[in-house]
Amino acid sequence: MRSVATFLLFLSVLGIFPESTVCLPNFLSRAPALRSESSFRSWLRRRQDDNNTTAGDAGTYRRIEVTGAHAWKAPGPNDKRGPCPALNSLANHGYLPRNGVVGLLSAATVTNEIFGIGIDLSLPLSLYATLLSGNILTLSWSIGGPTGGTLLGLLGTGKGLSGSHNKYETDASVTHGDSYLFNGDVNSVQLPKFKKLLSLQANAAVPNWTLDVMNIHRNYTLQDSISTNPYFFFGPVSGLLVSNAGHCFVPGMMGNHSAQWPNGRVTKEILQSFFAVHEDTSTGTLTHTRGHERIPHNWHRRAAGGVVSEYGNARFAVDLVRMAAYNPAILKVGGNMGTVNSFAGVDLGGITGGIYNSFDLLDPDMLVCFIFRTLLAVVPDLLQGGLLGALLNVALKLLTTTLLPLFNPKCPGIQNWNGEMLEKFPGAGSKAV
Ligand code: HEM
Repeated sequence: MRSVATFLLFLSVLGIFPESTVCLPNFLSRAPALRSESSFRSWLRRRQDDNNTTAGDAGTYRRIEVTGAHAWKAPGPNDKRGPCPALNSLANHGYLPRNGVVGLLSAATVTNEIFGIGIDLSLPLSLYATLLSGNILTLSWSIGGPTGGTLLGLLGTGKGLSGSHNKYETDASVTHGDSYLFNGDVNSVQLPKFKKLLSLQANAAVPNWTLDVMNIHRNYTLQDSISTNPYFFFGPVSGLLVSNAGHCFVPGMMGNHSAQWPNGRVTKEILQSFFAVHEDTSTGTLTHTRGHERIPHNWHRRAAGGVVSEYGNARFAVDLVRMAAYNPAILKVGGNMGTVNSFAGVDLGGITGGIYNSFDLLDPDMLVCFIFRTLLAVVPDLLQGGLLGALLNVALKLLTTTLLPLFNPKCPGIQNWNGEMLEKFPGAGSKAV
């Protein structure tokens, strides 16, 4: 904990964090898994038998304001919007800057405040965005396309989430299309995919897109990409972590919470709102307007307060393990070999220098270890060549000082990341992860 504080103070002294939204004591008190790890873990184990492990504690069901200063507004022509429905919604409601260029810390804290994601998950997500697709000098990044500027060009970064294909943005997404199949348009919902998602609860008496339902959709999205995209790639970060996360995040954080639905309920209307899909009720026709994602009216986030009520890494890991129990293929790193239906896997043990294999990841604790140790292993490699000298050192320092306090130091470290094993996949491009 002390090192997080030291690190943040260090940054503020340097003037790197001008963000007024950050309140240091609050921020630190919310960092989960650090204060009561053992009770957190035993609680999680108890929850594994629940129908929906993404439950929050019963408690306060906080309604998210969508009027006044947070009224929905369509993005302007120069505002950035990208592949993440949650970030787009936050910008459209003014919780994040409406221009779509966000700060490292404010993105982590605002997503925590409004969606109930744990800081131990939102901070690595935002850090990765900053280092991989953002601006290391201003510690900011775009939720959509590039922010421009010569310095960014020289550094080879600043492309935004939309330009981070196979490093962050990924194939086999929940509703968005694969980059190769849609001429690089990764920001639009593909309606056939969306309809497939809706169809899963079309005949349900009380529709709810739980993790069990998303397991079925996960199978579909994987198979869909394998059978249509010759350059499909499912990397250890982009596929195993990010693509799978999108599927877990729907029941995990998009549900409306209430006393009746303490675990949250995801309805068709909620999905349509968050994914910017409009239904003509007289004809049933669906239309999608890119960038028009919105937080639904009268929507209540996961129960507020308390370590266990947030959707942090431990909760995410449990959901991922449940997903893998349903379909082990979701942990299989690999890709198509240039033709459809030619998926070949690659040994995770080989990539991680023998430290983590797919079987290890069935243990949620090891999965959390894998998340952090992988980020610490791949980011330096990704930054080499893009950043030089002092700037590279600042980036690497930022990486370690931010991540090290967030996970168990006993997690086995990855000394040799063999990323070149991924180069055999024609869809991987340079430095895909
Ligand atoms: C700083 C925090 C976050 C970052 C950097 C981030 C980043 C991303 C990225 C890069 C994608 C694209 C993945 C893909 O191509 O499939 C994505 C998709 C997604 N994100 Fe986020 N995200 C963040 C927070 C959240 C939160 C809090 C939620 C809560 C609901 C969320 C829900 C989703 C969903 C459901 C998708 C899949 C979209 C689709 O395929 O249609 N994200 N996010």
